[in-house]
Amino acid sequence: MPVLETNQLTKAFGDFNALNGVNIEVNQGEVFGFIGPNGAGKSTTIRILLGLMKASSGSASIFGRDTWKDAVEIHKRLAYVPGDVNLWPNLTGGEVIDLFGKLRGGIARERRDELIERFKLDPAKKCRTYSKGNRQKVALVAAFAADADLYILDEPTSGLDPLMERIFQECVMEARSEGKSVLLSSHILSEVERLCDRVGIIREGAIIESGTLADLRHLTRTQFVIETKQPIEGLPSLPGVHDVVEKDRSYTFQVDSEHVEKVMPHISKYGVVKLESAPPTLEDLFMRHYEGESVEAGGES
Ligand SMILES: Nc1ncnc2c1ncn2[C@@H]1O[C@H](COP(=O)(O)OP(=O)(O)O)[C@@H](O)[C@H]1O
Ligand SMILES: [Mg+2]
Repeated sequence: MPVLETNQLTKAFGDFNALNGVNIEVNQGEVFGFIGPNGAGKSTTIRILLGLMKASSGSASIFGRDTWKDAVEIHKRLAYVPGDVNLWPNLTGGEVIDLFGKLRGGIARERRDELIERFKLDPAKKCRTYSKGNRQKVALVAAFAADADLYILDEPTSGLDPLMERIFQECVMEARSEGKSVLLSSHILSEVERLCDRVGIIREGAIIESGTLADLRHLTRTQFVIETKQPIEGLPSLPGVHDVVEKDRSYTFQVDSEHVEKVMPHISKYGVVKLESAPPTLEDLFMRHYEGESVEAGGES
């Protein structure tokens, strides 16, 4: 049984359908990347999962329980970090972390202190003086100090610098290695790519692709810059080759990842003197998904 599951989840705000049948599944010990641009419906899905909002139709369950009816039970084993953290202005960061801990029935002191140290948070300052990044850190420390079974993280690193982003990634990896499950939403694909076992791509309230990164590989392209001794013949017409730009025997182009194997032997015949390649990114996959396509707004559920 999956730890978290939604089935044909819809949500209407007036006559606007924010969710049009979202199906996602997070299994135990898995980091699931919930990816989509702003306004795609990530936070709406997450609010329903947290029991903060009732779905218009469809179902959502966590630990096998209904997210609306059994929210109290579910929350005992769940930690949540939003992208925009609001804290009590008059409490210090440390007090807020302890308060969250008490609400959960206590946190391990050592773990709390270790996380404060790693995230380089000054816990003695009043929350009202914290920057967005520091408020984010307070929420992350509180979440990772909690011994939850499921972490729901809704764009949790907006406002963190790259060094702290790294610490965040380590925390997610550690949680996974302890068999915990993570739902990580993001519109920044590169951060998710490295962390996630599986991803679901949401667009206009519906999942348009999901699977492991290997599953999605047939949708990705690898970027090449290659210099050869002799001019490469027929490069633009090879299967899977795109956007060839040639300048003084230096060729910049993309190859569908599944065709790289066939394209390379052809090129090597012309005496390769320089080769650079950039790995396929989800960003690129995503951009091509979005360009030129338009799902009709509204639509039935
Ligand atoms: N309470 C609300 N009332 C009306 N529209 C909303 C509400 N919450 C979200 N929306 C709309 O639903 C869509 C999805 O929003 P959201 O789930 O926040 O997207 P994401 O988190 O992926 O950026 C957006 O068009 C947003 O404007
Ligand atoms: Mg959001």
